[in-house]
Amino acid sequence: MGRIPDELVDKIIHESDIVEVISEYVSLKSSGKNFMGVCPFHSDKGPSLSVSREKQLYHCFGCGASGNVLGFIMRIKNIEFIDALRFLGEKIGVSIEQKKEHTENPRFKLKDEMYRINIEAARYFFRNIYNVKAAYNYFLSRNMEDKTIKKFGLGYSLDSWNSLESYLAKKGFSKDIMLKAGLIIKGKNATYDRFRNRVMFPVFDYRGRVIGFGGRVLDDTKPKYLNSPETDIFLKGTNLYGLNFAIKNKVPDSIIIVEGYMDCISLHQAGITNVVASLGTALTESQAKLIKKYTENVYVCYDSDSAGKTATLKGMDILQNVGCNVKVISVPVGKDPDEFIKLNGVDSFNNLINNALPIIDYKIHLAREKYDLKNMEDSLKFTKRVAYILSSLNSEIEIQYYGKKIAEETGIPQSSIIEDIKKLKRKNNYYAKNNEEEKENNVSNYKIEPAFKKSEQMLLTLCLKSKDYFEYIKGRISVGEFITPFYKIAADFLYKRLENEEKIIPNSLLGNFSTSYEISEVSLIFNKVVPNDISTDLIDDYIKVIKKHNIEDKIKSIKIQIKKYEKNGEKQKSLELFNKLILLQRQLDTL
Ligand code: UTP
Ligand code: MN
Repeated sequence: MGRIPDELVDKIIHESDIVEVISEYVSLKSSGKNFMGVCPFHSDKGPSLSVSREKQLYHCFGCGASGNVLGFIMRIKNIEFIDALRFLGEKIGVSIEQKKEHTENPRFKLKDEMYRINIEAARYFFRNIYNVKAAYNYFLSRNMEDKTIKKFGLGYSLDSWNSLESYLAKKGFSKDIMLKAGLIIKGKNATYDRFRNRVMFPVFDYRGRVIGFGGRVLDDTKPKYLNSPETDIFLKGTNLYGLNFAIKNKVPDSIIIVEGYMDCISLHQAGITNVVASLGTALTESQAKLIKKYTENVYVCYDSDSAGKTATLKGMDILQNVGCNVKVISVPVGKDPDEFIKLNGVDSFNNLINNALPIIDYKIHLAREKYDLKNMEDSLKFTKRVAYILSSLNSEIEIQYYGKKIAEETGIPQSSIIEDIKKLKRKNNYYAKNNEEEKENNVSNYKIEPAFKKSEQMLLTLCLKSKDYFEYIKGRISVGEFITPFYKIAADFLYKRLENEEKIIPNSLLGNFSTSYEISEVSLIFNKVVPNDISTDLIDDYIKVIKKHNIEDKIKSIKIQIKKYEKNGEKQKSLELFNKLILLQRQLDTL
């Protein structure tokens, strides 16, 4: 399960009382053995949420939400496993950080050691700027105030091959850890400092720990920036520079994403503190999700060159897909946010924020730049392009609104534009539908539930219901035949314990999972209400669905293999497989 020891997870789950925790969010009334309340996960007025103290589970009969106390917290606060653990741990006085240090697991030790060496290196770089005039002057020349230098821990790496290495060695760090943290590099004969004669930007994670560094040259030589390599604590594309400051005092209503260190720092210095930097790379889904934890309102403010525009479009789509409202701040051509604010001041930048364009408007704006609307032919092309952009909209009101605007701009009748959009929409829907059908066979696609998953869920529910059901099912389907990964784990867990007639505590099974989705799906087997008189025929049907899928899967891969052999002219091998195929097909027929 990663960083936190299992016993600690168990302890936190077992010592938290689900009824008490949920009561803080939902008013619960006792009703028989359970507590009932209004479900916070869908809009409802009736009491469809049931919380069981005995099972330590909740379940909503309306929307199907389900889970243990950890799953509830992850979902209601929209936070990840670790953060939910920390939150619950604090309530019962158990710190997950403290435990980490005591643990023997060498991976935690390594990470802790890396945080320690990074902070030590950052302090060293920081002190250097007060000793080397050129470094301090560089920051001054870029309008950095002393306050800002301190806040962001900016620094300088000396023009020397081993100064950091010998400093860290004196502090008692091993060469091994310096290498692992990416602070020194192994050459042919000796090791040497990675960062030399560069102004240094420590990179913080959202909690303010130093996870890596960026170093910039003081002039125009290339490469402009050198960054720490990927390490155990510096995972590219998962972090956002400046987030620790952006969320420091309160979670902001919106977040602005910029590209570079300097952009981020300048805006913070100017008092615009809801800014983070993606550091040059295209925004990743993991970064988008990180933002979404704090706010849905996101502004993208990248450079206005063509690379910046491409990055903007891509980033917007990723943000929109995780559920953010995205707007684009356009900085005039040739400037990045840092230069803009230096030249025009903070009020002008606030104007840019106020004039930020929603995704659709931004896309139309980009299209408009490409065409000369006084030219008839261009005007038509532009309109077609816009129709295509608008065909992604689902709201009739929005379609009409934009349709009207474009009609006014181009002189092309609104009705024709709308007609074009509708045509394109029909086409999109057609493709989308075909795509979904393709995905249906894919286990990892959770939205469209494959039939076998429902069967797995029912079988496990029945195993819990009575010993007879369990014996019957275990005799007919093995753990290995379960398909959905988390149900396979659940089957393994239940089979082992039920065989020994052990009592099943839901949370000891749920402790194996760390996403709210898995927790929710697996807790369904404790919450599902099944009729008392399930026939063995019905059970056989559930089993059949799973076995059928497994065989069909095998057939699929054998067919692919046969094709390969045939292509290579390996007749004997393909014949052998062909015989296997026939056997499998027969198995399928006799199911
Ligand atoms: P920019 O070139 O926009 O840098 O690259 P910047 O932050 O505005 O720097 P100044 O103003 O020229 O000093 C944006 C980001 O891309 C990454 C850095 O994280 C940078 O902040 N980058 C850029 C690199 O990692 N390596 C490079 O060589 C260049
Ligand atoms: Mn810049």
